Amino acid sequence: MTVSASSPVGIFDSGIGGLTVVKAIQSLLPSERIIYFGDTARVPYGSKSQVTIRKYAQDDTAILMKYQPKMIIVACNTVSALALDVVKQVGNGVPVLGVLEAGAALAVQHSRNNRIGVIGTRATIASNAYSLAIGLIEPAVEVFSSPCPLFVPLAEEGYIDHPASRMIAREYLEGLLEQGVDTLVLGCTHYPILRNLIEETVGPDIAIIDSAEAIALKAKEVLVENNLLNDSASSVFPHLLVSDLPQKFKALCELFLGRDIPDVELVDV
Ligand code: DGL
Repeated sequence: MTVSASSPVGIFDSGIGGLTVVKAIQSLLPSERIIYFGDTARVPYGSKSQVTIRKYAQDDTAILMKYQPKMIIVACNTVSALALDVVKQVGNGVPVLGVLEAGAALAVQHSRNNRIGVIGTRATIASNAYSLAIGLIEPAVEVFSSPCPLFVPLAEEGYIDHPASRMIAREYLEGLLEQGVDTLVLGCTHYPILRNLIEETVGPDIAIIDSAEAIALKAKEVLVENNLLNDSASSVFPHLLVSDLPQKFKALCELFLGRDIPDVELVDV
């Protein structure tokens, strides 16, 4: 497969969450063509078994590979935690970046008291992948984690400023606050959609870490290293693919991005 600077960057997630990463890539690298796949037929991933998540990761990567990407960004913490090796294998030499390492590194940089909270899907938290990644960077850090599974359907429903979301946030985050963390990692790409509400719940003294910006910086670095940065002056809107309900996805994207977007394409998984 021959790739060039004008080849697309492939990005995937289980649903709308990965758009938080798309947004960051677009603002740092506006000339890059992005092909995004959201597996809306099978969201959520985070409550599934490792075997199932690994199978989904394989299918998602195979869909993006049809577009001959020059890089694949796994905009899903659950897949980054449990199936990054599968993506690399199907990616067959295409550089693969996962959001998890980027988030872990950023959290360590921010924490002053070495007490970091991590929230994510059940599968991500059960994998312990964040504690391991943070421990490799700074062994002195204590990690306190908590799964927040209901945040994913709330984000998919567009409940970004809803009393039900606020109540659930309080219920999920109370325990972490009692641990005296000074940094909170949004270890699921759906959670930045609820960021205002999470911020309001934890208060101004806790730094919120969203790995989207960090992964965008990393993507730029890898593209430069591989001489694949697209420096044309034109910019195009990402090509969006989903496995179910394209109209619903389009409406949600418009709510999230605050603008009209082109049609979303339906693909088979
Ligand atoms: N947004 C994904 C993540 O970062 C997956 C959420 C889900 O499908 O459960 O983990």
